[in-house]
Amino acid sequence: MSTNHVEVHEANGVSFRQAPEHFFKSQPSKSYIVDEAQYRAWYDQSINDPETFYGALAKEYLHWDKPFTKVRSGDLTNGDISWFLQGELNACYNCVDRHAFANPDKIALISEPDEESEAYSITFQQLLEKVCKVAGVLQSWGVKKGDTVAVYLPMTPEAVIAMLAIARIGAVHSVVFAGFSAGSLKDRVVDAGCKVVITCDEAKRGGKTINTKKIVDEGLNGVESVSKILVYKRTGNPDVKMTPGRDHYWDEVCANQRSYVPCVPTNAEDPLFLLYTSGSTGQPKGVVHTVGGYLLNAALSTRFVFDLHPEDVFFTAGDVGWITGHTYALYGPLSLGTASIIFESTPAYPDYGRYWRIINRWKATHFYVAPTAMRLIKKVGEAEIAKYDISSLRVLGSVGEPIQPDLWEWYNEKVGNNNCCIVDTYWQTESGAHLITPLAGAFPTKPGSASLPFFGIAPAIIDPATGKELEGNDVAGVLAVKSTWPSVARTVYNDHSRYMDTYLKPFAGYYFTGDNAARDNDGYYWIRGRADDVVNVSGHRLSTNEIETVLDEHPGVTECACIGINDDLTGQAVVAFISLKEGACDINNESEYAAFKKSLVMEVRGVIGPFASPKAIIAVSDLPKTRSGKIMRRVLRKIASNEMEQIGDLSTMANPECVPKIIAAVDSQFFVKK
Ligand code: WTA
Repeated sequence: MSTNHVEVHEANGVSFRQAPEHFFKSQPSKSYIVDEAQYRAWYDQSINDPETFYGALAKEYLHWDKPFTKVRSGDLTNGDISWFLQGELNACYNCVDRHAFANPDKIALISEPDEESEAYSITFQQLLEKVCKVAGVLQSWGVKKGDTVAVYLPMTPEAVIAMLAIARIGAVHSVVFAGFSAGSLKDRVVDAGCKVVITCDEAKRGGKTINTKKIVDEGLNGVESVSKILVYKRTGNPDVKMTPGRDHYWDEVCANQRSYVPCVPTNAEDPLFLLYTSGSTGQPKGVVHTVGGYLLNAALSTRFVFDLHPEDVFFTAGDVGWITGHTYALYGPLSLGTASIIFESTPAYPDYGRYWRIINRWKATHFYVAPTAMRLIKKVGEAEIAKYDISSLRVLGSVGEPIQPDLWEWYNEKVGNNNCCIVDTYWQTESGAHLITPLAGAFPTKPGSASLPFFGIAPAIIDPATGKELEGNDVAGVLAVKSTWPSVARTVYNDHSRYMDTYLKPFAGYYFTGDNAARDNDGYYWIRGRADDVVNVSGHRLSTNEIETVLDEHPGVTECACIGINDDLTGQAVVAFISLKEGACDINNESEYAAFKKSLVMEVRGVIGPFASPKAIIAVSDLPKTRSGKIMRRVLRKIASNEMEQIGDLSTMANPECVPKIIAAVDSQFFVKK
């Protein structure tokens, strides 16, 4: 705790930033939340009288086929949270049909494929037709309300169309990030019992071709539940293997479907989607979000946090395989009838000007990205920014990891030209939408702080040692939420007790975020990273435990421990410490050791996915352990971070003699090479 207190005092020294004049001047119309007083008044009502607050907003922002009879019920103690009871609505209708009816020719999606010259846009009317055709295909295959359908597609409009088509017929989508391996896809498809998988023949990323369908075939080998695979022809390579009867090309089957298929009404509390995410232990969890509450908070947060107007153009650079893509590339902007840019490639392809050309080409007003991409550009691609006119930008968002104050300043100056509002949005897969975040233009911000709670969120800082909430300002501890909010995850798919154990039981009566945080003198929040064994590499949420499980299976490994350390480029990086089996490899033979380490990395890439590869693998003779045999990861973290002075109390360690050996191993195998 003592280090956290130092951090609170540091946080107290940071000065407020006001929204720039240009932000207000460039708005199409006045702000949705005009000032701090309005924010405070709305916030207070959202906490003290959520029935009135959300009852009115739910009617204003969503189209209901049948009105709800009760705004909310349930609480964090029982884990029986529900919102908008008895209400019926359809998420696809809200994101597509109603806008297609009102403004058929308005742009809904902008596609920026890997090949830049092939960018295009589609209108709400076109989107409606495309979605209906896929919905018709799914229905013809017997997919019904409540069935789960997996989507394993790159960041293309087809991913969005597939998700909306699934929602249209009341089915439940489970998007699996297309960077996951065949094995990870399989685990997720099996856990969710998916009947259908929607994918593509091959993907393109950074000029490279990825054999997506082959990965799907490998993953689905022996998976009985999947009877059909819908294959979007992304490259049209005729050599891609199709299994007759099971696999069908998207264009061929869609051609046989009507252009209009009615929406299937869903209850507000029916599941809209599952999204798998990593925790401290065990297999990834299928976090369940429901139609009404999730969609409402997607709309409200997009509207108020970004001050998004209907004529704006929203560019979320994150992938639809993660929650940011779900909420802020799809459901948020489309529910508001605003155009969303779907970007398939990388910030570096074909060169570092790509983001800025996209913004310039489509006159994007909002740009939302993870700090990791900004760090990369700052390091190698900064010179490109000034070459483009990106003055259409009004709001710059940051998501997924803490943004350090110096990077915040850089983002503000180099990308925003000191003319934009910066919103550092803190949230999680489980929260569905923003938890702690500035509202563009409504109140001052502080570089490095996610600032104040979004409507409906009552944050609590808890002392992890006593489990007691720390009241007042100038406190640090773990972050929890003591209110329920419409888009909080309702359960873990088929495992409600895991939901209770992970989120609601650690501190009774609170939702536990898993993050450390401080509240400064002004009541502003500072997120301090995870309090558990989750690491955040380039904005990808990974469990060190999952990586350890893979490495432990390797025949040459006796034992291993993975930790997250700070990294200049990726935010955090995974370092794996392994103790080797007798004779597994001669670590003094450089080429043999390199090949051995490569085999370990390949194992992680194959089982989880390339993005989970450890940055370094360090062989040690012994791992530090407590007397009861628990690996002391804290000690490894301090050694690998070169923070020996903070190594702390070693009196519980059973084998202190290993410490100098580990230091020597880190020095020779890691620091030398860094
Ligand atoms: C971290 C991503 C600091 C945090 C939306 C959280 C952040 C985890 C921020 C969730 C932020 C996300 N500042 N940390 N602005 N945003 N995080 O589920 O540790 O992929 O618990 O959702 O990312 O990651 P997830």
